[in-house]
Amino acid sequence: SAPISSSNHKEFDELPKENFWDVADIFKWEGFWYGFHQIESIKAFQSHFQACDDDVILASFLKTGTTWLKALCVSIMGRQSSHHQQLGGDEEEEEKDLLVRNISHFYVPTLEVQVYEDASHPDLSGRGLGTPSPRLFHTHLPYNTLPDSIKNSKCKIGYITRNPKDTPVSFWHFFNKILRPGQDPFPFEKAFESFCNGVHVYGPFFDHILSYWTENLKMPHKILFIKYEDLKSNPMQQVKKLASFLGKPFEEGDEEEIEKVIWRCSFERLKNLDVNQNGAICKVPNSFLFRMGTVGDWKNHFTPEMSQRLDQIALMKLQNAGLDL
Ligand code: A3P
Repeated sequence: SAPISSSNHKEFDELPKENFWDVADIFKWEGFWYGFHQIESIKAFQSHFQACDDDVILASFLKTGTTWLKALCVSIMGRQSSHHQQLGGDEEEEEKDLLVRNISHFYVPTLEVQVYEDASHPDLSGRGLGTPSPRLFHTHLPYNTLPDSIKNSKCKIGYITRNPKDTPVSFWHFFNKILRPGQDPFPFEKAFESFCNGVHVYGPFFDHILSYWTENLKMPHKILFIKYEDLKSNPMQQVKKLASFLGKPFEEGDEEEIEKVIWRCSFERLKNLDVNQNGAICKVPNSFLFRMGTVGDWKNHFTPEMSQRLDQIALMKLQNAGLDL
């Protein structure tokens, strides 16, 4: 049979097309940029995913703290899950389990990447933390592209975002490892330019954030908006907020338990687990997901002009919407 390529699909001829990092064509579809195969998977996700009212959907742009948020949610939800019970509520057993799995991406698959890849539509009824419900999923899609069933059900959405300067830096390091192994990095200036123009996978970054921010203002009970920097500076407060949102609130006096969740999901701990040093998920080595885990690395990459330019874009796009990042 003919290989699947964008040239077999007439509808792609109509879409705006650009090149991403001299590697792949990307298409502007529903206002955002994707590779051809991504669009096929997203369409499968849109038409087949049936949300349940007690699902939790995590959402994020790329490199904004997805892995961290996934781990925190697994840890918070896991406290009372039957997965926890199955392991006898035994913390040592749980620890062993976490050592052999990439906790974030095993328990919280990214729907359009891990579940609906190849435009397949698997049965998800048993998918959850060792129990059919509540199910935990993740997506990198902007709000408007989510399946209607997510928008129309009572399921909750937790969105994590990150400041507009560290995000492209993390993005650049990650895609260099994925797309150019053993080669010189793609020029940072060019990557910066495409980030500012919004012509990059899952871009424009600012429109992605705004898609969730706007809905969060309308439906704060449905959508939680978390900033990577707030999680860094005040993890105790943010984890409490996250747990309450997930319907698993901590009580007064639970500080030790919260500290445990924070430690379990800390960059230092997760990065050094054997599974994250040597394992892989969807052909991506887990180690690529843990680089520095800090705020402010952009200062080592940006010229003053670049910094000013992004400040201006952020001001125009976000501050007018009442958002400060
Ligand atoms: P850096 O490249 O700046 O280090 P994502 O999970 O969305 O792909 O985001 C990856 C970014 O989050 C990387 O940022 C990575 O190091 C950081 N990160 C991963 N796990 C983390 C954790 N547990 N705590 C804080 N940052 C984490």
